[in-house]
Amino acid sequence: MPGPGLDLIGEEEIAEVVEVLRSRHVSRYGAHDDPTFGARVRRFEEEVASRVGVRHAIALNAGSSAIWVALAGLGIGPGDEVIVPGFTYVSSISAIIYARAIPVLAEVDETFNLDPVDVEARITPRTRAILAVHMLGNPARLDELRAVADRHGLALIEDCAQAFGATYRGRWVGGYGVAGIYSFNEFKTITCGDGGMLVTDDETLYRRCFAMHDQGHSPFRLDVEIGQRPFLGLNFRMIELAGAVLLAQLRKLDRIRDHLRANKAIVEETIGDLPGLGFRLLPDPDGDLATHLVVVFPDEEVARHVTAELPSITLAASGWHVYANMENLIDRRTITGKGCPFDCRCFDDQERRYAPGMLPRTDALLARSMSFGIGVSDPNLAPYGLRMRDGPEVARQRAARFRDVAARHLAG
Ligand SMILES: Cc1ncc(COP(=O)(O)O)c(C=O)c1O
Repeated sequence: MPGPGLDLIGEEEIAEVVEVLRSRHVSRYGAHDDPTFGARVRRFEEEVASRVGVRHAIALNAGSSAIWVALAGLGIGPGDEVIVPGFTYVSSISAIIYARAIPVLAEVDETFNLDPVDVEARITPRTRAILAVHMLGNPARLDELRAVADRHGLALIEDCAQAFGATYRGRWVGGYGVAGIYSFNEFKTITCGDGGMLVTDDETLYRRCFAMHDQGHSPFRLDVEIGQRPFLGLNFRMIELAGAVLLAQLRKLDRIRDHLRANKAIVEETIGDLPGLGFRLLPDPDGDLATHLVVVFPDEEVARHVTAELPSITLAASGWHVYANMENLIDRRTITGKGCPFDCRCFDDQERRYAPGMLPRTDALLARSMSFGIGVSDPNLAPYGLRMRDGPEVARQRAARFRDVAARHLAG
């Protein structure tokens, strides 16, 4: 099931990959004195960093590891809390748990992203960071969230896995927080199958994150380091084959955005005046990636009827995007069930529990909403809608069918 980039994989990606294979430089650490080494991972990092407007980017094997590496880089661990929305993707929560810190779930508001007021109310002396997740292609209220983070001396981390290429006040998301992460799995704006990236303008954080993702080494293993590595790292490196595909995909980003925005405009034009139908609030409509159009029905019952008939699903039913559907979180299932964060002395003051119903505003909003997919077709998020390959005619047809079905249930 695709995101927009997957539908565009073609000769350009194939040519890049073939060159890598012919050169046999399949690791990012190819021989720089060999002219056949294309340093594609490095070039991809440089291109993304320059678009985001930050000094550093690290390509990784997945967005999930990028979140975990960011937390490790910030030194977040046992005894710490990180605030994260209850409507997100499971790994924004599990990465915090595997950092052995506590995820503190917060409400989303009508932006379907973190509610800054609720975030501030959940800050405790243990809070270290706010993980703002830009869900469904559109930025959270970044100005407000950054103000909250600054007021309380917290790190703002941006999870832009679903918003690669979206902007906020003219600037790429990922560059507002101290660190931003992206994902390149097959549902995302551009893809190489699986891949991720971390961006930051902070030199110390960059060096720590690089070390974490590459066995404790300093960037590019340039220094003689034996005896000087800051800590033990692991291996979350991106390979050249992935970098090759992503370089070709990145050149298609403008085309992807333009196409999605044009299709979204058609859908909005067709259904925008339906009495009783609401829409997600976009803090910066100009920065919208346009992968999704989120509609809000007056109540749960109408949402249930419309989604059953299309067929589609409400966002409340969007699997592992909603905290209440994460049974492994609710049951606090870690590998051994022992130690931090759930079974340790750091949190003697209170037991941490998660349960459906703990975020009533998020639950109520998601239960009466659905995403009309514009460029992402995902059975767990947006089964009804369009794909990148669909042109204006299909956009009109699908929007007209939605209008038909929704109008009947809204009137009834
Ligand atoms: C919001 C969000 N965060 C993190 C991730 C994790 O990315 P990956 O699948 O590359 O590990 C995803 C992936 O779907 C996501 O949607």
